[in-house]
Amino acid sequence: MSAPRNPFTPSFGGTPPLLVGRETEIADFERALDDGPGALGRATLITGLRGVGKTVMLNALEDVARQAGWLVVAETATRGLADRIERDALPRLLAEHDPEAEHRRVAGVTLPMGAGGLSTTVDARYRPSGTLRSLLERLGAVLSERGSGVLITIDEVHRREIEDLRIVTTAVQHAVREGLDVAFIGAGLKPNINGLRGDALLTFLRRSHVLELGQLHYAACVRALDEPVRDAGRRFAPDALELAAQGTQGYPFLVQFIGAQSWIAAGDREVIERADARAAIARARIAMAQYIYEPTLAALSDVDRSFLQAMSEDDGPSRIEDLRARLDATSGFVGVYRKRLLDDGLIAPAGYGRVQYTTPYLREYLRSEGAAAPDASPIERGFGPEPGH
Ligand SMILES: Nc1ncnc2c1ncn2[C@@H]1O[C@H](COP(=O)(O)OP(=O)(O)OP(=O)(O)O)[C@@H](O)[C@H]1O
Ligand SMILES: [Mg+2]
Repeated sequence: MSAPRNPFTPSFGGTPPLLVGRETEIADFERALDDGPGALGRATLITGLRGVGKTVMLNALEDVARQAGWLVVAETATRGLADRIERDALPRLLAEHDPEAEHRRVAGVTLPMGAGGLSTTVDARYRPSGTLRSLLERLGAVLSERGSGVLITIDEVHRREIEDLRIVTTAVQHAVREGLDVAFIGAGLKPNINGLRGDALLTFLRRSHVLELGQLHYAACVRALDEPVRDAGRRFAPDALELAAQGTQGYPFLVQFIGAQSWIAAGDREVIERADARAAIARARIAMAQYIYEPTLAALSDVDRSFLQAMSEDDGPSRIEDLRARLDATSGFVGVYRKRLLDDGLIAPAGYGRVQYTTPYLREYLRSEGAAAPDASPIERGFGPEPGH
């Protein structure tokens, strides 16, 4: 018998062997599909930290839609987004589902001589065309009549593609206004979503339901680690399971990563031991640097980074007043940066006048980085001019 395969999916966008802790969100979307065109959840923006499970959630909601008999157009916000939907996705779906298209297809078929009836050959050249808006409305109308609809999903939404997003969301908005069964879900990091919702022309997105994904509960992490291992024919020793689940800190990416590494550390053994889980957690912290902290910090301004760095001196939540002193800044500056990091989801309030990190092990990472790069001292970089001065 061949060795059982590692069941975990420690890769971005990888569908986990067991999706945990998102039951409410999934049920809400099922209801939104049942409720009709006015339902709030039919226009949703999924947001949250890197690795929290936005793409996985998007895929899960696409599956919900498919199970309800809907068609899905799944896209990513990269160059040419609107064109791809207008020239490729919608024409393809219309050619397949529009009875009108069927009619024209049959009319375009040349009957083979002597054939007893209509050939089923389709004219592959037949392509419905029009604007994204007219095609979407046509598809929406065809499907609504049959009691189904079309869901458009766009992952990694970003201001960079704002023109295309405007075209797509305007088309969706019109279709919804016409009472058609058209739904939209976008997913992206918090700063990117915030950047779009601030745009006056994107009313549709501003009014969308925002689904902010957070960390998982401890019990959910235990299940997400335990069940896939059992299904694969092995098991965690109870103390190993507890340590591994604690090590994830409720962070979905770490559930998969620590699960996968624990499995690897156990080698051929049937039981994953505590030492395996410990080794996995040590590796996870290195992986977090590469996949999470570095891209996250690279997207921040120097002062925002300095703020996070200054927080790392504390063993728990940081007092704003202490940060102000460490950064040698006025409370006005500190307030501005505090708010931006809160909006980006990188810190969270922790009682009056205090903030804490939201990303697991970030403190430990910044402490080691700070030691390695003394130039990164926040005081040397200095703050910019106070707003309004
Ligand atoms: N609810 C969940 N239960 C178990 N594992 C999950 C869950 N959600 C996500 N994961 C796992 O977490 C990892 C990250 O998920 P995903 O790629 O969806 O994150 P993301 O938020 O889209 O990240 P990014 O911001 O980098 O695009 C994947 O390995 C995925 O399998
Ligand atoms: Mg993603």
